[in-house]
Amino acid sequence: MIFADPAVQAVFTRYLAREAADAARMRELGPAGFAVRDEFLLPVGEAVGWFLHALITARRPRRILELGTSYGYSTLFLADAARIVGAQVVTMELAEYKQAHASAQLAEAGLADRVDFRLGDAVAMIAADPGEWDFVLLDIWKELYVPCLDAFHPRLAEEAIVCADNVIEPAMSRPDMRAYRAAVAGKPDLQSALLPIGSGIEISVKWSAGSSRL
Ligand SMILES: C[S@@+](CC[C@H](N)C(=O)[O-])C[C@H]1O[C@@H](n2cnc3c(N)ncnc32)[C@H](O)[C@@H]1O
Repeated sequence: MIFADPAVQAVFTRYLAREAADAARMRELGPAGFAVRDEFLLPVGEAVGWFLHALITARRPRRILELGTSYGYSTLFLADAARIVGAQVVTMELAEYKQAHASAQLAEAGLADRVDFRLGDAVAMIAADPGEWDFVLLDIWKELYVPCLDAFHPRLAEEAIVCADNVIEPAMSRPDMRAYRAAVAGKPDLQSALLPIGSGIEISVKWSAGSSRL
């Protein structure tokens, strides 16, 4: 698949080249790569990117929250889909240099007006936003999935979708992923399924008992 807009595709082609270079360097470094993880894109990957893009274009959310901008690979998919459906993306990142890179790429892709880049600790920033979320991509450091869920869950719109990445891989994240899946299962208004796409996506939909659409 390719992006319909050549400016978006040109930016994505650069991300693909960096993703391949990162993969080669990670293979070289082995487990030592974890210490320098901030140098890598750590992207959701193309299959998940297009899955998110299709979900957004089909479900037409208005407000999209991304937790973990990194260098902007996944933000590009969210923002391109957001432009198609007239939505806005809020993306949160702790590292200023990553956010600066992401912001420059999105501007080059012509998608700057679709994205509100927020810098700082995501858990605190979620709590500070009074709006509702229709779509959430959770792809932050894995020990933060449960605190983030607890922070955004009260602000999920009815029928909102939450996609959490890395539920299957890497194996070292599985204890955190088990805790996340247990936390989701403990919320009676969330219905979930684990999809073997990319590194594993837990997709959850908010359906409250008594919702008029049930
Ligand atoms: C796996 S990467 C995100 C990859 C990105 N979604 C993509 O597909 O291109 C996780 C990111 O979460 C960021 N992060 C970690 N802790 C954070 C926090 N407390 N608040 C905001 N961002 C944080 C890291 O700096 C890192 O860039």
